[in-house]
Amino acid sequence: MTLVRFQHILSSEISKRAFLSRPPEPPAEVLMSDPLHSLFVGTTKIFKVPFAWSFVNLTNPHISVVGITGAGKSYFVKTLLIRASYVWNSNAIIIDWAGEYKPWVKQSGGIVVSFAKGDYLNIMDLTGMKPLDRTKQIMNSFDILTDISAFPEQKRLTEEALEQAYVNMGFIISEKPPAGKEPPTLKNVIALLEEKLTEGTYEYPAELENAVYRLRQFAREGEDYFAKKSTLDLGKLSESGLVDIDLSSLPDERFRALAALFILQTLKEKMRSEGFSETKGLKAIVVLDEAWKVASDDKSDAITIVREGRKYQFGLIVASQNPTDINEAIFSNVGTTFMLRIKFEKFLNYLQGSLNFSDFIRGEISKFGVGQAAVEMLFQTALRFPGTFVLERIHGEEPLYVYIIDLSDILTQSELAAGIIQRDYQFEKEELKAKFIEFNVSTEGIDGLFALMDSQGKSMKMVAFVQQLKQNNVATSNIVAFLKSISLDDAIITRIISRSGA
Ligand SMILES: Nc1ncnc2c1ncn2[C@@H]1O[C@H](COP(=O)(O)OP(=O)(O)O)[C@@H](O)[C@H]1O
Ligand SMILES: [Mg+2]
Repeated sequence: MTLVRFQHILSSEISKRAFLSRPPEPPAEVLMSDPLHSLFVGTTKIFKVPFAWSFVNLTNPHISVVGITGAGKSYFVKTLLIRASYVWNSNAIIIDWAGEYKPWVKQSGGIVVSFAKGDYLNIMDLTGMKPLDRTKQIMNSFDILTDISAFPEQKRLTEEALEQAYVNMGFIISEKPPAGKEPPTLKNVIALLEEKLTEGTYEYPAELENAVYRLRQFAREGEDYFAKKSTLDLGKLSESGLVDIDLSSLPDERFRALAALFILQTLKEKMRSEGFSETKGLKAIVVLDEAWKVASDDKSDAITIVREGRKYQFGLIVASQNPTDINEAIFSNVGTTFMLRIKFEKFLNYLQGSLNFSDFIRGEISKFGVGQAAVEMLFQTALRFPGTFVLERIHGEEPLYVYIIDLSDILTQSELAAGIIQRDYQFEKEELKAKFIEFNVSTEGIDGLFALMDSQGKSMKMVAFVQQLKQNNVATSNIVAFLKSISLDDAIITRIISRSGA
């Protein structure tokens, strides 16, 4: 007969016994990595263990961040970048779709690159690549961004003209370029196609015309951000500390995507050509925030970086409010996923389906407040503990001193829910002041506006803001120019102007 003995026992003792309940968090030795080589993120919800992120035991260093607008994705990314720069001396390149990192990067002493303001990138730059390979990459971008793949003849003509433009500048297309040699631009390529058109000997002039038309979109005077001699050296930028590539002032999504794809291609080449690295931590971190077109397409180099980045100490962070916008290949391969608040059942289903967390975690995610997150990590070895756990809050650096113009009064419920349109604009004081001066607000007017904003938590609703500008005798044309300068859509601008009686 078996003897049964009763004894007092603490509940924390019981919780450690796996036969009674699986522990709801990974063990402390997994959560608390070597502080000299990990980045503190926050404290776990149940056992209050400090969690410091490191990728040594993970399949790779890449991170995806998902959550509704305002959940705290960008705040988390900023926190992580700053700590990575302290701990590992990591460089960071932020591909900044909406310009939301700009004030913070300026404040942190980083470099801001702004396309519509005098910076150019020649997408035909070779940065050490063979012209043949570069041509393929450019065609790849056109495949993603335009309808060219539906027109094989136009594709062939464009590809040939790209190669010919390199040859005309003295390059050998199958060889690495000599250092310092000036590459052609898209304008040279267009000229070649036009020449062929005027010669009049080519059988299908309509195909030629369409090929020219497609390329011209990216080379129009004033919109030739990628068809002029580069003012930037991307290779250097990836080793320049904190760099924000502000795409928000580009005219539309295609331009933003073209820039982002080109930057990723160049960084990928640089990563490969630099080869392996023995250092601990990450040499460079590339951030893609809300860049759905670039994160979702199979042909995007975001995927190549995810596949190959680990061995080169290259990390990718992809942040999005819509997890289904992140390509499966990225999503199922990243070593860590941070899930902030998510409301939509559809998105929760998608996440739970691919990451396999419990219904308990699912319930938590839908109730999170700002900065709360569930973390899922993919370990290299099989686990005896759950890979997903909840953080009380992402413990970040102090928020930046910013002024906010809030659009929530102007957007419809469905626009707010869809979250496609940015709901607030953040400005550093000096930056906002410079804009006021640019759009002819008087000195007293500027002081008045700041005093008013200071009195209401440095934030103002858009309609009230525009009414204030009017009261300060700012002409409607200047108000419209101001709204355009923060890249608001024409339809929204019309709505703001009529709503504020301007
Ligand atoms: N962990 C956090 N602690 C404190 N404030 C936070 C935290 N996360 C976000 N915030 C604040 O909440 C607001 C929205 O955060 P943000 O990162 O811009 O959201 P998202 O990028 O998901 O739209 C910002 O004002 C930010 O400072
Ligand atoms: Mg954000």
